[in-house]
Amino acid sequence: MNLNNVAGIELTALSDVSAECIKQGLEATNDNPKAYEDYHDVLKDPNVDAVVIAVPNFLHKQIVIEALEAGKHIFCEKPVGISLDEYDEIEKHLEKTDRIFQVGFELRHADLYQTVKETIESGQLGEIGLMQCNVFRGPVLTSWRLDDSISGGLLMDLCLHHYDLMSWFTNARPKRVCGIRRKTLKEVFCDDSLLNIEFDNGMICSVTLTLCTKFEQEIELGIVGDRGILRSWHNAQSIKVVSENEPREKTIAVPVSEKEYGFSGARKQWEAFVGAISENKKPLNSLQNARNSLAMALAAQETLASGKPVEIN
Ligand SMILES: NC(=O)c1ccc[n+]([C@@H]2O[C@H](COP(=O)([O-])OP(=O)(O)OC[C@H]3O[C@@H](n4cnc5c(N)ncnc54)[C@H](O)[C@@H]3O)[C@@H](O)[C@H]2O)c1
Repeated sequence: MNLNNVAGIELTALSDVSAECIKQGLEATNDNPKAYEDYHDVLKDPNVDAVVIAVPNFLHKQIVIEALEAGKHIFCEKPVGISLDEYDEIEKHLEKTDRIFQVGFELRHADLYQTVKETIESGQLGEIGLMQCNVFRGPVLTSWRLDDSISGGLLMDLCLHHYDLMSWFTNARPKRVCGIRRKTLKEVFCDDSLLNIEFDNGMICSVTLTLCTKFEQEIELGIVGDRGILRSWHNAQSIKVVSENEPREKTIAVPVSEKEYGFSGARKQWEAFVGAISENKKPLNSLQNARNSLAMALAAQETLASGKPVEIN
């Protein structure tokens, strides 16, 4: 996480239970924050207007609620909690405040996916019936993510961004998922998996996740409408479209403004957080969006364990 040189952000305090992580945090910042071992001291600090919560997933809910009670604006990393009950509990607290609450779905802010969304909304692809998302990455061998009671499940932790994109592109809610998986290494939760998702607008999607590649990581999208097809590649920041209006394949220019973090949209999400607070406007990534993606992720884990379809209420 790099908050340096983001207009409107001054790092005034930081906290970690690990002294080594505090040291690294202090070395990484251009600001001069106070360092606390106990996050409660950050919440008590009157110089702190907003907090970023980026600790292992099972701790998020408690810290979010305490931060809201302390009157802080909140940026919380995904997932906001590890169960839908946790989201509902946070929602009750959020309803009582006017604080800004933004979730860390940075891909929504990435230039590539902003351009994909604009292309869909321009109507040139027509009505979207099918989406395909292929996620290629390497194994996760050591991390708190491998302990389901802390992470909520590795698949949930890793694929939430992609589930979120699928929902966001057409503002649809997931209804049903069905998947299969292949396990090749004992020490990881899920090596190769194929997930099919049906949405409430009739669209069907597939998410392919491999944790087996030793090569460059990639996210590929294929989006099929009744008037055109879009394909995109994350690493090349490339979008190609064929449509009734453009029968010969056309490359759509992505206005690349950010190269940090592999074009992830991270810097733009911080700018959006500052903007949401200063203009008191609803962030692009709300708790409700995050709840939809969590519901999809929990159902995905269930179907990949059982091989049976799972309905999402
Ligand atoms: N949006 C994204 O793309 C993205 C990417 C990576 C991680 N994340 C999320 O960010 C969160 C952190 O992940 P990470 O990869 O940075 O994990 P990490 O293990 O690298 O860092 C977690 C830090 O939290 C500290 N910590 C643990 N308990 C604490 C406590 N009670 N008080 C203060 N600090 C505490 C640990 O010492 C560690 O420094 C997770 O929720 C993860 O899902 C999101």
